[in-house]
Amino acid sequence: MDVLVIGSGISGLSAAIRSAQLGCQVSLVSPYVSERSQSVMAAGGINAALDTLGEEDSPQLHFEETMKGGAMIEGAGAVRGLCESAPQIVRWLDSIGVVFSRDKNGEIAQRAFGGQSKKRTAYAGASTGKQIVTALTQKCREYEISGSVQRFCGLSFHSALIEGGRCYGAVFTDDVTGEIVPMQADAVIMATGGMNKLFGKTTGSELCDGYAAGRLMSQGVIMRNLEFIQYHPTTIETPNKRMLITEAARGEGGRLYYEEAGRRVYFMEEEFGPRGNLMPRDVVSRCIYNCPSQVYLDVSFLVDKLIHERLEEVYDLCMKYLDLDICRESIPVAPSVHFFMGGIRVSDDHETNIRALYAVGECASKYHGANRLGGNSLLAAVYSGRVAAESCYTKIGKAALPAFAETVDAIRTELTEAKEHGAGGVISADAVRRELAQIMNRDLGIVREAEKLADGIRAIEDLSHRTETIRYCGDATLYDYYRTRHMLLIARAILMSALAREESRGAHFRSDFPETKDNYLGCSTAEFKDGKIVIGFEETE
Ligand code: FUM
Repeated sequence: MDVLVIGSGISGLSAAIRSAQLGCQVSLVSPYVSERSQSVMAAGGINAALDTLGEEDSPQLHFEETMKGGAMIEGAGAVRGLCESAPQIVRWLDSIGVVFSRDKNGEIAQRAFGGQSKKRTAYAGASTGKQIVTALTQKCREYEISGSVQRFCGLSFHSALIEGGRCYGAVFTDDVTGEIVPMQADAVIMATGGMNKLFGKTTGSELCDGYAAGRLMSQGVIMRNLEFIQYHPTTIETPNKRMLITEAARGEGGRLYYEEAGRRVYFMEEEFGPRGNLMPRDVVSRCIYNCPSQVYLDVSFLVDKLIHERLEEVYDLCMKYLDLDICRESIPVAPSVHFFMGGIRVSDDHETNIRALYAVGECASKYHGANRLGGNSLLAAVYSGRVAAESCYTKIGKAALPAFAETVDAIRTELTEAKEHGAGGVISADAVRRELAQIMNRDLGIVREAEKLADGIRAIEDLSHRTETIRYCGDATLYDYYRTRHMLLIARAILMSALAREESRGAHFRSDFPETKDNYLGCSTAEFKDGKIVIGFEETE
């Protein structure tokens, strides 16, 4: 059967490799090479209860802590599958050449990460994502050489081809020529990442802009838990993005503090005890948000050798961007948008509400509930890619696919109209995105309240209305205009989901509803029906 995988980061590569292993013919499509995917930015590690240190760790404990970290709204069956598969996944990654750091016994080294009581995070220095991408790319090449995987670069996702509630391919825009490129397949796996660019500068890639989610929602795909957005507690400002100071820095002993009347206040330790710096990210980010002055991360008391062995990337980063030697000085840090727990709603086998359309990795909402534990995203990326590939193979199979010429013609017409119909003022697609990011940061921060969320919704409605009635300018392509509209759609759905959840849970903190409430012990959904966004709630399966 033919499988179309869209996105070539870790989840896309995993889906492609597993599909090829099962004998499928795979098209792996992305705008850029895998080495430019957001996956390479993942720093600190991948969780698996290998228990190499004899701490009596187990997949069961990993499961319990992932559920607790996610504030108990995730499906237990899916999380259990993730945690039970983790040791095998890490061993497999090791076997295909991921250069995991080793302990003194030559075993895969494991470090402490937030919200976990055991050292469970396997790592490759502080560039774990990059090392996994490298090994998976190499593995995938074997299947490219044998002809079972064909790679297409320079194509951006435009739309899914859907008929009668079933997906049968997708349409892309050629990034160079602007041409529309349709591709048919028996099953489609979306691996398009998070929605970082909605917020402008974040720790993630600005190539992950939420368009895919917005476009799929407009095509009838249901979204889930959009309000849960993770702020990573320790990031630094650089010219183009926020840079992550990996949680591993705290895992290795790093301490957070602010200064008051000439003395250091180790606020996390004062409130939560010796393990305070490694509380889950939602907790740490909120505490930093409430600090009266600049927060610093101190690792300078660690021996230089350890810093250079385990945190070399952090050392380089701070030297390069802050001209700061972490072996001698503390790092000024602040939280930034980092990860989207919400996204495309999928069943436990990663199929969406549209038959034969799957979603994996960060674009799918699974496993992480209201707050993801550090080290679980790389794990979920590999695991979800595999699960989806196996389901496509066993459940979907070969199908007679409908003709698509008419649909593709309609897309070409719609794109042209998007450029030509405006008669009002002039605006660039970039200016719309900048305004959108301002709204998102202003009205949907670490601490939320109804009035601001409602303001944000109104501001996006206004911006959407303006983008519908104006002409665009600058050197943006037709596709840019189209993309922006769908970013606005998903952004509005995020704010509406946050407004609808009148409680605080995990990364969603409402100052007007600070309690966690039993009647919200479930997942929000967002659907686009009859031209309107409809928010609902459903019990976790
Ligand atoms: O801090 C970090 O290294 C991030 C890891 C993650 O998001 O899983």
